[in-house]
Amino acid sequence: MSVHSKLYEGKAKILYTTDNPEILLADFKDDATAFNAQKRGSIIGKGKINCSIASQLFKQLEAQGIKTHFIDSPSPNQMRVKAVKILPLEVVVRNIAAGSLSQQTGLPVGTVLKQPLVEFYYKNDQLGDPLLTRDRLLLMELATEEQVDLIKNLALQINEFLRSFWQQCGITLVDFKLEFGLDSQQQILLADEISPDTCRLWDTTETDPNRRVLDKDRFRRDLGNVEDAYQEVLQRVLQTVDSK
Ligand code: C5P
Repeated sequence: MSVHSKLYEGKAKILYTTDNPEILLADFKDDATAFNAQKRGSIIGKGKINCSIASQLFKQLEAQGIKTHFIDSPSPNQMRVKAVKILPLEVVVRNIAAGSLSQQTGLPVGTVLKQPLVEFYYKNDQLGDPLLTRDRLLLMELATEEQVDLIKNLALQINEFLRSFWQQCGITLVDFKLEFGLDSQQQILLADEISPDTCRLWDTTETDPNRRVLDKDRFRRDLGNVEDAYQEVLQRVLQTVDSK
């Protein structure tokens, strides 16, 4: 497969076109950003770690019948993906209160939610990715009603699978963000990545609120040992996949 030109460079990945217009190559970077890119840095080895974790999770989700953009991973920090038109939505699923939910509602961090909460944010850096209501989302024609319902159902199914998978890794899935895209047949595919950059992952047996954090909050909140946490997550994912 010959790689053509750079199609798009995001905060964590570069997308290249290939000789097949239906296939793109995603190159995962070590660059890390937080708070809408106001905080910038680098997490050594993150590109390879996140690409490996996301590849394993996409494979597992595909085996559960969830359609994703994943094709394969030709090298540790590269993923071949189906070309999709990304919907400008960040779909967040929460099982436990943390982050912006706690900040905006006053629910204490760590409160277990009675049922998973699915939220839609407008993926727009200039506006700071605001939280959307369903009516605002429809008003702005960011997706159709059918697509919103389908995406919400998919997000809940993905949550059920991921919760159980991470639990087998000794990790509690607090919350995570998903992105979806439309392929050439207008089918909705899970896109982007699932990794410690996009999930809050707490070490299940660790009760100390700082030591339990195995995700990007270590970078956001300057908790230290960021690389070690990402590496630890990868090792646990590989062990869990091998034991299946
Ligand atoms: O910041 P907030 O609490 O809304 O984040 C919820 C979840 O979505 C977290 O797991 C966070 O890592 C993820 N997220 C993300 N990309 C964003 C915003 C949130 O991966 N732009």
